[in-house]
Amino acid sequence: ISTQDLAGRRVVITAGPTREALDPVRYLSNHSSGKMGYALAAACAARGAQVTLVSGPVALATPPGVARVDVLSACEMLAAVEAALPCELFIGCAAVADYRAASVAEHKLKKGDDTSGMTLELVRNPDIVATVAARSERPFCVGFAAETQALETHAGDKLSRKRLDLIVANDVSQAGLGFGSDDNAATLLWREADAVRRQALPPQPKTALATAILDHLVTRLP
Ligand code: PMT
Repeated sequence: ISTQDLAGRRVVITAGPTREALDPVRYLSNHSSGKMGYALAAACAARGAQVTLVSGPVALATPPGVARVDVLSACEMLAAVEAALPCELFIGCAAVADYRAASVAEHKLKKGDDTSGMTLELVRNPDIVATVAARSERPFCVGFAAETQALETHAGDKLSRKRLDLIVANDVSQAGLGFGSDDNAATLLWREADAVRRQALPPQPKTALATAILDHLVTRLP
């Protein structure tokens, strides 16, 4: 029997990739499998939380006791997150596409006469975790940072810019960790008395890492 230290807490988690349509048959996306976000959702539910998991397209089973909402695009993910609020804890683990096509072609795009290439026009997607953190009645907001260089510098920037309470920085350039794999490693970064504090979590299965992240979070939730 696990500790029920999240009993009665409402938690909203995003997981997986988003898929941004270009035309009826093509899209822009990324390699997120959803494993990290689903491990967090399972761990929260096992500790007694009421969990809504807003999921991009993944090939994973819904963890027991979790309410799952399936979405495709970043705009759909934001709408589903806003519909699931209010909550006390929000965790943005999804790999959300920063851009989408300026317009989605109604029919399959055809190769044009220009044999040298083609240019796609993209527009910025809304930032889901920053939108949640900017609300007046905001939950405790946790983001992830997927970086391939200067991990803590870039993650620290995201912590401040998105006004998060905690960021989980993971180096996604390391083989066997991060996108798609069963294991991950992370550094937790947060602000305390005007200084950035850190806690390193070594490589381990995503299920164990989810528990370690929650062990930190339960000490900090209001
Ligand atoms: O799904 P897995 O295969 O298990 O892999 C796990 C993971 C590597 C995807 C996960 O651990 C992770 O790092 N998730 C965040 C990936 C990401 O998009 O990072 P980012 O540094 O681009 O974004 C920073 C934060 O802003 C994230 O919390 C992200 O969810 C959020 N974001 C980004 C863009 C956007 N438009 N809206 C957002 O909310």
